[in-house]
Amino acid sequence: MAEKFIVEPCGALRGKMEIGGAKNAVLPVLAAAILTEQECVLQNVPDLSDVESMCVLLESLGAKTIMDKPSGTITVNTHAINSLDASYELVGKLRASFLVMGPLLARFGRAKVPLPGGCAIGSRPVDLHLKGFAALGAEIDNSHGFVTASAKRLRGAKIYLDFPSVGATENIMMAAALAQGQTILENCAIEPEIVDLANFLNTIGGKIRGAGTDTIKIEGVSSLTTPNPKHSIIPDRIEAGTFMIAAALTRGDVTLTNVMADHVKPVTAKLKEVNINVEESDTGVRVTCDPSCELIAADLKTLPYPGFPTDMQAQFMSLMATASGTSVITETVFENRFMQVGELKRMGAEIKIESRSAIVEGVPKLTGTQVVASDLRAGAALVLAALRAEGTTEITGIHHIERGYDRIDTRLNQLGASIVRVESEKE
Ligand code: EPZ
Repeated sequence: MAEKFIVEPCGALRGKMEIGGAKNAVLPVLAAAILTEQECVLQNVPDLSDVESMCVLLESLGAKTIMDKPSGTITVNTHAINSLDASYELVGKLRASFLVMGPLLARFGRAKVPLPGGCAIGSRPVDLHLKGFAALGAEIDNSHGFVTASAKRLRGAKIYLDFPSVGATENIMMAAALAQGQTILENCAIEPEIVDLANFLNTIGGKIRGAGTDTIKIEGVSSLTTPNPKHSIIPDRIEAGTFMIAAALTRGDVTLTNVMADHVKPVTAKLKEVNINVEESDTGVRVTCDPSCELIAADLKTLPYPGFPTDMQAQFMSLMATASGTSVITETVFENRFMQVGELKRMGAEIKIESRSAIVEGVPKLTGTQVVASDLRAGAALVLAALRAEGTTEITGIHHIERGYDRIDTRLNQLGASIVRVESEKE
């Protein structure tokens, strides 16, 4: 049965919140477990439907995964993988499933994965992944909606990415870990999740250097056999940023723990620019705002890390919807990531889209109404907007939100929000 959130406006959010492990770090790390026959223990794993989907995919290939939710631990063992074909139905549920291609190809010499379709935010091509595999010597057959890659043994190569794609960097790095010789990956992504994956690969016996810079050097090894590898997933900088904006929007006082302050610097800088106080410490960040403080509109351009993250664009737009002045928000990473605009306008926001920019004229208040979450971050943006809108907001499509946020309703309510989850007749 579909569910929806009923959100009543709340006063200032106050209190302490622990941030969970990063969805966009644990998904590639789970795929990377395919590279080793050793049983891996992953800690600080968030309880998300996307994580569950990745585990189901690994199990469909013959791997074993055990998730212990109370401790946030996953034990994954890919020793008994007996299939190299990822199913269309499972990959359709989770685009990040395409990250199993590199590891399957590297360890078994073959992989067949459905070409991921587009999604709400864009066409999401994988051409850079495939160019990387081909550069490593793989034969690529891309037909009938499936990609098959095969190679007796991958050979190291020098690869320059046309765009610092996060997924392509991850897929190629995993494939190169077992290639013959050295691979140099240039113009690669430098997101913290790349560093976390490289750390995991080195933990299982890989030889990866330079992750976090735009050039990564991978010395291929014949097998990855370090026994009993354990890895703790980095905190989720996007979940942290989302809760930072919740505190700012409600003019609250919220301390977020288990946050790497460096990873949320772009969000911190932008919040300070719009007149919100953010204190950084070695355990996290504290967002405070005088209840009467005036939010000042600021422009925004999303960019690959360390620029402002595209995954925080919709949430920032919700904040600017009731700021004083005009904010021009430009989305440079994905071609269709303004799905929240229509719904925010139904709540009374004044927003005009011109090409890749949204011009947001701040209004004094938004009003609650019925809205639909179309994708993960647009859905989160609607929850944020509803916290301070006048009247009740009903949000359907919350399964999108649950993909990337663990109990967002319960945890915001612990800070003073009023979100009720009810069954919904509307899918
Ligand atoms: C990862 O997606 C994240 N997902 C996304 O988070 C995030 O928005 C994105 O990186 C950018 O930071 C995961 O990590 C699971 P890209 P990914 O490859 O790897 C183009 C969320 O909300 N491109 O860096 O798919 C692509 O079309 C999700 O948590 C190519 O042209 O992102 C896009 O315009 C959404 N060819 C741009 O690069 C390729 O082969 C960035 O994509 C690959 C990408």
